[in-house]
Order: sequence, then structure tokens, then C-alpha cells
Amino acid sequence: MIGTVSVRPTRLALLARNFTYSFTGLHKFNSSIDSVPSLSSRKFSSASPTLVNSQNPGSGPRLQPKKPLDVISEEKGGGISRIDEDISIEYPEDTGLPRTPIIQGRGGRHFKRTLAQFSLEDKVSVVTGGASGIGLALSQSIVASGSHLAIVDMNRKLIANPRYLVQKIIKTNYHNVDDEAQIQAKTLLEQFKSENPGLEKLPTVTAHYADVSNPASVDDAIADIIAKQGKIDNLVTCAGFTENFSAVTYPYDRMQKLWGVVVDGTYLFTTGVAKHLIKRQASGSMVVIGSMSGAIVNVPQPQAPYNAAKAAVRHLAASLAVEWATHDIRVNCISPGYILTALTRKILEENFEFREKWVSLIPAGRVGMPEDLMGPVTFLLSDSARYITGADLRVDGGYTLT
Ligand SMILES: NC(=O)c1ccc[n+]([C@@H]2O[C@H](COP(=O)([O-])OP(=O)(O)OC[C@H]3O[C@@H](n4cnc5c(N)ncnc54)[C@H](O)[C@@H]3O)[C@@H](O)[C@H]2O)c1
Repeated sequence: MIGTVSVRPTRLALLARNFTYSFTGLHKFNSSIDSVPSLSSRKFSSASPTLVNSQNPGSGPRLQPKKPLDVISEEKGGGISRIDEDISIEYPEDTGLPRTPIIQGRGGRHFKRTLAQFSLEDKVSVVTGGASGIGLALSQSIVASGSHLAIVDMNRKLIANPRYLVQKIIKTNYHNVDDEAQIQAKTLLEQFKSENPGLEKLPTVTAHYADVSNPASVDDAIADIIAKQGKIDNLVTCAGFTENFSAVTYPYDRMQKLWGVVVDGTYLFTTGVAKHLIKRQASGSMVVIGSMSGAIVNVPQPQAPYNAAKAAVRHLAASLAVEWATHDIRVNCISPGYILTALTRKILEENFEFREKWVSLIPAGRVGMPEDLMGPVTFLLSDSARYITGADLRVDGGYTLT
């Protein structure tokens, strides 16, 4: 089974908004691009709580609830902040993952004045999970800022989605390349060239295979990067995924896989690159991609292992920052809120009720875009953040503030 979302009959009481919102019926979808979503039925009732003036019924400004506050609280309190244990979303197989297009028109030449400290010129930067989603956008911002780039990802074959494959081949003409990281590395460089015509010196962009949860695979990838790029200065760990099962039904092997990629993967790559930097006696900058889920508990979807894993990532960054401060290696964390990647877009398109609930909890009033993380990662990697280490930069439209 790939990419299954199932929501059994349930009811979300949104007392704070004075309406009742519910969706009923069994809803399942297969997350291949061609599947046709069927939206759950939704019912809205505009009924406001009945209010009476207890001293002079029928008039006067002092309104009080009909029922004592403690009764309302017992019946409906906390509804908006509850987990719905019936929601389960399984991460798709590699072959079912939607692909990410290269961002256009954000990295071209410009003559606006800015600090030279923001430049990543002549650095070699590594991005794990760089073949899609947030990692791909971060890769583009790194190249646009003057750095060479090594994309690390799993080997995902483009035969995954025949329709996408055809489009890609027509567009890029890379008939002999079958690995998504390689495709993205070449497409990214083409995009950079088209946005920066006439440049004499082009960045070196390479693609490397690793399963970040596997120590031997990580060692091989780091050796391969050093062989092809000569060195590593910066690292962004972005490989990761999320799944939704209630804690008591979470399959143990899935939980181990998730922690393996998110926690072990971050640890293995940061320590691997630190060994290289310490050996070279070179300074370096690392950014680990955590999540606001490392600081809050998302609702309504249950995801306890993911939340715990992202909390671990955030504190790992702080711990490593202290440990490596004397080596001039900075380690910071970026904790994004909800970001619209190909995968989250698909889930939201097919589960309209999620989008409403999520957006209602974001003070900025919208979910984030991968582009919203381009500036923050460049800033933290660059010399402009040279006195910042162990920080957790939340890029969440204010979600964690309320
Ligand atoms: N999208 C969001 O709303 C959101 C919010 C907060 C944090 N994040 C975090 O951002 C990161 C990227 O998420 P995304 O939404 O862009 O997802 P995505 O699925 O688009 O990208 C993740 C990438 O990681 C790669 N990957 C997964 N497992 C791997 C492994 N074992 N070894 C090597 N590569 C592996 C995938 O192939 C993929 O290219 C994740 O760590 C995620 O937890 C995402």
C-alpha cells in the first residue's frame, strides 16, 4: 500500500470559532499523481452559543453563557487543540513521491546593494535530501549565493511517474540519467546559467547517493563528495519524512525507520562532516532542518515519533554547537512550520479540512513556501551569522507563538 490517508468518522468541535465542523465517512486515497481525490463531506453550522443577561434578561450589555463555564469546559473545552487518533497518513513509497520542479526567477543576477558577508562564494556546501522539496529550494539558494553544491539523496528512479518522466526528458534532454538527484543537479545548474548569462566561472554541482540512516553509506557519500569537490565547508541536513499514526498503532518498524533517517541521519552527517573539518583545521557552518513539531504538538494529526525526533534534532544542534565551538564549526537549527512542498500540497488538496485547520492556527494566515527558507539558510550558513551558533530559527509564520 502506498501513500494511504484514512480518516474514519470523526468530529472536530471548533468552539473558539463558534461553529461546528465535521466530516464523515471513510476516506482513503492512493497518492499517485493520477488518483482522483474525493473530498470528505463537510458540514458547517453557524449557530452561536446562546448568551443571556442574567440580571435583566432581554436587555443590557452584560452577557453570560447559559451554562456555567466549568460545564462548557468539560463538554467542549480543548476541542481545537486535540489529536484525532483516527487520522493515519503513510509516507508513500519512493515510486509514489510527487516530484519537485526547480524554482524559477528567484536567483538571477541583480545589482541591489547587500552585505558581502551574505555571500557563500568559493564554499562547498552539502545538502542531504536535496533532490526534492525544501532541500531542493535550499540547494538553489546556496548556488545562487556563490557556493559549489553537493546534493545527497537516495536513488529515486524517474520511472516512478511515467508522465513526469516524459515531461522531464523533453524539457532537459537527459536521456542517459536515471537518478533524480543527478537530474536535479543538472536542471539546477541549467537554471542558474539561464538566470546568470555570461558568467565566466560556474559553480560545480554534483549528485551523490546516500541512505543517511546507514553509517557506511554516509561515509561513502562524504568520501565521494570530497573526491569530486575537493572539500566540504557547509552542511544542511534536510533528509526526512513524516507519517501519521496514533501512538498506540504506530508500526514499530516505521518508527525505527523515521528515527533512523531524521535522528541518526542528522547525527551521522554532522559528525562525518565535522571529522573532515577538524582534520582540515577549517571552519564550517551547519544547518540542521528540524521542525516546529520539535517544540509544539501538531493537531489534529497524530505524529508523536516525528515530534520527538525533531526535538532531538534541535537539541542535537545545540549540543554539537557547544562541542565544536572551539573548532570554529557553527551548528544551527531551522524549524519550519507547515511548508507547501509537492507532498504536503497533495495531502492538502485531497484533505481540505486539514488546510482549514492548519491555516486557522497560523498567525501569518498562510502556509509557508520552500522559498521562505532560502534566505534563512543562506544567512545561517554565511559569515553574517558568524557569532550565531546553537540557535533554533523558527520559520513558521508565527505558529509556535500562540
Ligand atoms: N514540508 C513541511 O511542511 C515541513 C515542515 C517542517 C519540517 N520539514 C522537514 O523538512 C525536510 C524536508 O521535507 P520536505 O517536505 O521537503 O520532504 P520531501 O519528501 O520533499 O524531501 C525529503 C527528501 O529527503 C530524501 N530522503 C528521505 N529519506 C532519505 C534517506 N534515508 N537518505 C537520503 N535521503 C532521504 C527524499 O528522497 C527527499 O528527496 C524534512 O526533514 C522534514 O521533516 C518539512
